[in-house]
Amino acid sequence: MASAVRLPPGCGKLLEEPLLYNEYQQRFIRARRQRFCLNCRTLGSMSEMGQFTCAKCKKEHNGRWGNLTAPRAFNRFMLLAGRGGGKTLVAAHAVREELMIPGAQWWAMGADYKLLWDSTFPTLVGLLHPQWIKRWDPEHVEITLQNDAKVAFRSLEDPDRARGPHGVGGMWLDEAAKCPERAWHVGTPMLIKAGGIAIASTTPLGYDWTYEQIEEQALVRREPGYWAARWKTLDNPLFRTNPVMREQIERDRKRMTAAFFAQEYEAERKNAEGLIYGDLIDQNVLKDDEAVRRYLPEWPNISPNRKVLIGVDEGSDHPFGAVLIVVTDRGLVVVSDYLERMKAHSLAHDDIWTRFGLHRWAEKVFAANKNALNLRLEWGLKGTGVVQAENKHEVGIQRMQSWLVTKKLKFAYTASRTIQQCGSYRNADNTKKSGEKKEREGVFKLRDELPDACRYALMAWPELPDPDEVPMSESEQKRWDAFDERTRNELKILAEMRKAKAGTGVDLKPEEDGYPTGNIFQHDVSDLFGNDMDSF
Ligand SMILES: Nc1ncnc2c1ncn2[C@@H]1O[C@H](COP(=O)(O)OP(=O)(O)OP(=O)(O)O)[C@@H](O)[C@H]1O
Ligand SMILES: [Mg+2]
Repeated sequence: MASAVRLPPGCGKLLEEPLLYNEYQQRFIRARRQRFCLNCRTLGSMSEMGQFTCAKCKKEHNGRWGNLTAPRAFNRFMLLAGRGGGKTLVAAHAVREELMIPGAQWWAMGADYKLLWDSTFPTLVGLLHPQWIKRWDPEHVEITLQNDAKVAFRSLEDPDRARGPHGVGGMWLDEAAKCPERAWHVGTPMLIKAGGIAIASTTPLGYDWTYEQIEEQALVRREPGYWAARWKTLDNPLFRTNPVMREQIERDRKRMTAAFFAQEYEAERKNAEGLIYGDLIDQNVLKDDEAVRRYLPEWPNISPNRKVLIGVDEGSDHPFGAVLIVVTDRGLVVVSDYLERMKAHSLAHDDIWTRFGLHRWAEKVFAANKNALNLRLEWGLKGTGVVQAENKHEVGIQRMQSWLVTKKLKFAYTASRTIQQCGSYRNADNTKKSGEKKEREGVFKLRDELPDACRYALMAWPELPDPDEVPMSESEQKRWDAFDERTRNELKILAEMRKAKAGTGVDLKPEEDGYPTGNIFQHDVSDLFGNDMDSF
């Protein structure tokens, strides 16, 4: 009896709400419906009820396993929009439509419990008609529909909650940027068996994991199967038409820094708020081969006579990161990086040797966190000694910054993941739950493997950049590079001679200010020794 069925809270509440036209939401809906009939190799679109009959050969590809004979044109979706842009709503519409497929199994996941209950769950459940509900299981937070389609809700404080049975037809990660990346890797294998799809909806958090895993694949690499759209809060038709709502956004535009506003309302990833290295990374990127050759003329075959540094950030609960840095007479150049998930220390060792081609160089220094005892032990057994690097964030970050400010730490375009991670390396929110500020700034511990690897390498490198040396401007640098080696050496000698004449090279007289012992005897001796005089 229908009336005896317990309903999930808020069931059907949004059924009367119209979905107004938003170009991006509509494009998503169309892209998601696209299927490819393997029988006659023709692209088509499924119906609102998730049914797909090929328009050309008339073959039907319905039910839970329909994707196996007519796969989806796209199976990884990214909805990137500003706050209140309508991501959750359109994703919920998509899942609701998917649940019309008999027997479909879906997982709807939110970054945390609060988000799941305040937004993800009520939006999707609000779109489910009460008459469709067959079973509501509040204990497991699962809803079964009359057609035996089922949706399970999970919050992802523990990323392993994304693990489920194989044959799942789809998973949705709401506020994906705040979900652990691991959830994506744990969850996606469940989709293989039924040719399922994954939807990530989010406001970005700088270059969070969704960039590399989905957006870049869809928009930069144009990887088949990936689809992404980015839209602004103002593209939400409610905001477009309602002056009161628009007014709120305008108020925030004035209140927030331009970069933060762009992230929150325009879904821009480049948000300088709290960035540790900020623009310093971009300024030090060597964008093409020609730029790298100014530092390494022999590029791309780096000379075996050069010294190299390998910074390592071992990972057991996060990916294993390493960077390869080449020492040149004009500074340090990061040329390659390594980032692998869940690698045992000894496996990572061999991988890194192969990836970086380390046998080529005789002089190499490996550096890692001084607390990484196991790494040192295991790599030691393989004949690779690892320097114990100072691991304090403040100290290491300062060291990195001084190399960057003096433009002596460069990133070849080939180390793209290091560029990305260092560019988005940020301070954690340093507000305690009580609202008080924490005494020490922490860093945001997500995707920080490569910045950490760089930091360790620099801490183990005994030289410091010369802070007095004025870095050359771009045009000066170009002119300098255009000289041949001999002219450059002669110019260097001339510059040294001029410096010696003009400055410190001229002897001071004992009575002059600044003479090494000059003023000592004009002071009361106790000034020099302070209160410790008593002990003499
Ligand atoms: N196309 C649309 N037609 C009508 N209302 C819409 C449309 N898109 C979004 N809305 C409404 O706008 C509001 C915000 O939408 P939604 O919660 O989906 O946005 P969001 O991007 O997930 O926001 P948040 O960043 O807060 O998670 C909701 O009330 C939703 O119903
Ligand atoms: Mg939302």
